[in-house]
Amino acid sequence: MLHSGNLAFVGSGVMAEAMIKGILKQQLLAPQRIVASGPRVARGRELEQRYGVRWTTDNTEAVRGAEVTVLSVKPQVVPKVLPELVGQLDPSSLVLSIVAGATLKTLHDGLNHGAIIRSMPNTPAQVGAGMTVWTVSAETSAEQKAQGKAILSALGEEIFVEDENYLDMATALSGTGPAYVFLVMEALIDAGVHLGFSRRISQKLVTETLLGSALFAKESSAHPAELKNMVTSPGGTSAEALYQLEKGGLRTVLSRGVWAAYQRSRSLGRAEERTPNHDNSVQAH
Ligand SMILES: NC(=O)c1ccc[n+]([C@@H]2O[C@H](COP(=O)([O-])OP(=O)(O)OC[C@H]3O[C@@H](n4cnc5c(N)ncnc54)[C@H](OP(=O)(O)O)[C@@H]3O)[C@@H](O)[C@H]2O)c1
Repeated sequence: MLHSGNLAFVGSGVMAEAMIKGILKQQLLAPQRIVASGPRVARGRELEQRYGVRWTTDNTEAVRGAEVTVLSVKPQVVPKVLPELVGQLDPSSLVLSIVAGATLKTLHDGLNHGAIIRSMPNTPAQVGAGMTVWTVSAETSAEQKAQGKAILSALGEEIFVEDENYLDMATALSGTGPAYVFLVMEALIDAGVHLGFSRRISQKLVTETLLGSALFAKESSAHPAELKNMVTSPGGTSAEALYQLEKGGLRTVLSRGVWAAYQRSRSLGRAEERTPNHDNSVQAH
């Protein structure tokens, strides 16, 4: 996947670990060629012991000799980290950002670097079932695109888009999507408890129903509306429930929520670009 250089992670939290785990599981790279950095020594020890990767508290040391540098810090830490890395990255290397809301322009200007991938993963990446949408700066080569694709595949499914605007759309749909699903899960579990199920059984019924329905929809060639019609008998229970859900505006509320998240993502990205000193109050979630 990489030539002779290393893969560096600046920020070694939950997402960096998910990527390291996926990369090693798919045997894309030997652990000795992965270097991660972060402020907490205890966290470094943990990663060294779990995965055999190298670790340092010094971000500039981590990126030395890196062919690809993954930027995996929280959005509010980006303004501190970008200036540290200026002049430290190999000009021919690739930067792959998973930071929500950090635009290509912010990263390009902040790092003074050409080849950049901006990606938007989601939380199921932590169990290898993520959905990542990604795009590239004009200076990114075809080979670097292939490297980025391989690294992002370690988190689950990935889709490349030409236009960065799709990243804001993806933030609203797949990036923020797990929050909508978890809310629906919670509401259904509570409804089950209301009926008289124990919380444990209700949670099991709801989780397996969501998982099974998602798998069925993924594997079936039918549109979800057709699958829904298949379980809706005339005068039956589904028809009765669907009538109430539509009457309550479920479809409209979901659409409004996604639209609001999209507007929020766009405005946060614009605020970051307008603020070279990066106001710490600007966060992407
Ligand atoms: N979690 C998700 O599912 C998800 C989904 C989409 C996008 N993302 C994006 O992925 C990025 C990482 O998220 P995460 O969930 O992995 O966060 P996280 O677990 O908090 O990881 C961030 C890591 O950065 C470290 N860090 C803090 N200051 C640093 C510095 N100055 N230099 C280097 N490292 C530093 C933190 O160390 P300490 O813990 O010691 O402070 C932590 O290990 C975020 O930008 C987020 O927007 C995450």
